[in-house]
Amino acid sequence: MTGEEDIALETRQSDQARLFSPSAARNRDAIRDAFLATMPLTGMIVEVGSGTGEHAVHIAAAAPHLRWRPGDPDAASRASIAAWTAHLGLGNVDAPHAVDVMRPCRQEPFDGAEGVVSINMIHIAPIEAAEGLIAGAAAILRPGGRLFLYGPFSRGGVHNAPSNAEFDASLKSRDPRWGVRDLERDVAPRAAAAGFDLVTSIEMPANNLSVIFARR
Ligand SMILES: C[S@@+](CC[C@H](N)C(=O)[O-])C[C@H]1O[C@@H](n2cnc3c(N)ncnc32)[C@H](O)[C@@H]1O
Repeated sequence: MTGEEDIALETRQSDQARLFSPSAARNRDAIRDAFLATMPLTGMIVEVGSGTGEHAVHIAAAAPHLRWRPGDPDAASRASIAAWTAHLGLGNVDAPHAVDVMRPCRQEPFDGAEGVVSINMIHIAPIEAAEGLIAGAAAILRPGGRLFLYGPFSRGGVHNAPSNAEFDASLKSRDPRWGVRDLERDVAPRAAAAGFDLVTSIEMPANNLSVIFARR
């Protein structure tokens, strides 16, 4: 098992460099539709933790006026993102960037972004990754730009389903720094302190949320 599979928490299939995530196959339409309903559809979108790249290409194919800039710290994931982009012949998805939001990242290439997206990342990383993501998004987004997060969240200290409580426990058993984040206690206060207003949260299949913030 590679480190990437550890982080993904699922077994991915592959076809040459292209990786296939079973969960992405299940949830990609709902995530695409939540994105299209709430995010800018022109300009630059910076994605953090793109994984296989399936969400990137699925959304970018439906929003041809976006310039999608995927990124991931994992080299196999970046190869998969590039392979998916080439396979689908998408001209609006850039070569993936190596980004680890736990470390200082170069921001100039992404200045003036319209949106920042991170799908299924902040619970499978220490809370400092959420902090780095929010700080980086605050630095590069234009005023009014949006931050889109997707994943499991608890609300006000309460899990929204027994399965999410079990998932939280299993994440913490793998790494005590990981865990389902609480929208009101963990994420919204950090986003507010960094200059974001909560726009909306959307209930998604399988007890997940899409959460959208706007840069003041
Ligand atoms: C569970 S996978 C989700 C991948 C994809 N977004 C999806 O939903 O299919 C989590 C991804 O976050 C990336 N990741 C983990 N820690 C990160 C960090 N500190 N900065 C950026 N990406 C990170 C991992 O490499 C992995 O690709």
